[in-house]
Amino acid sequence: MRTKLSVNINKVALIRNSRGANLPDLVQFARDCENYGADGITVHPRPDERHVRYNDLALLKDVITTELNVEGYPSEKFMKVVLNVQPHQCTLVPDPPGALTSDKGWEIKKEKIFLTNIISSLRDRGIRTSLFINPDVSQVDAASEVGAHRIELYTGDFARDYFIDKEKAIAGHVECAKRAGKLGIEVNAGHDLNLDNLAYYAKSVPLLAEVSIGHALISDALYFGISNVIGMYKNLL
Ligand code: PXP
Repeated sequence: MRTKLSVNINKVALIRNSRGANLPDLVQFARDCENYGADGITVHPRPDERHVRYNDLALLKDVITTELNVEGYPSEKFMKVVLNVQPHQCTLVPDPPGALTSDKGWEIKKEKIFLTNIISSLRDRGIRTSLFINPDVSQVDAASEVGAHRIELYTGDFARDYFIDKEKAIAGHVECAKRAGKLGIEVNAGHDLNLDNLAYYAKSVPLLAEVSIGHALISDALYFGISNVIGMYKNLL
C-alpha cells in the first residue's frame, strides 16, 4: 500500500488573505497540486478564518478530483458547513478557538458522547471521519469505541525528537498503527513532517494510509516550486 500525500493549502490561503483579493487563487492552486501529483487536498478552517475560509470549502469540493480532507474542531458552525459540503474525509481536532496550530490530540474518553454523536452525523452523510490523537494506544482503542474510521497520529513530537533519537521518537506511532490495524482502523499522520523525517516515518509506521503536510511543503515550494516539491515528497513515501 502506498501512503497518500494530502497537501494542506492553508498557508496559501493565508497569503491570499493578507492582501484581500484572490491572489494566489486557492482553488486553482488546489487543482495544480492535484495535477502535480497530490493524492488529496487538506484545509483546516479555524474560527477566525485567518487561513482557509468556510466559504472556500464548497468551491474546493466542486473542483477537487482526488480527496478533500477538512480538519477542524467540530463547532456548530464547522459541522454545519462540513455536513453541507460533504468532503471525502473530516479530521476532527480538539483545538481551542485561538490555537496557533494543532499541538495535541483528543482525550477521547472525556468527550465520548460528544464525539460519538458528531461521528455518527458525519457517517450518516457518508463522510469518512478521522480523529487526531497523540500516539497513545489507549486513544486508538477509544477512537474505535466512538466509531472513527481513521486516526490521525500527531507527529509534532516525533518531528521535534527525530534528530535526537528517532527510534524512540517513532516507537509509540508504530505501536498505535499496529493496534489500529487489529481494530480495523486506518492510520493517517501529520504535523511537522518534512523532507528530512518523512521517509523514516513512512517506512517505519505500518499501514500508513495518508500523511497531510502543509507548513514545510509550502515553505519548500518557495525554493523548489510547487510543481517539483510534490514529487519530492511523494518520492519519500
Ligand atoms: N494535521 C493537523 C490536524 C493539523 O492541524 C495540521 C496543521 O494545520 C497538519 C496536520 C499539518 O501540519 P503541518 O502544517 O506542520 O504540515
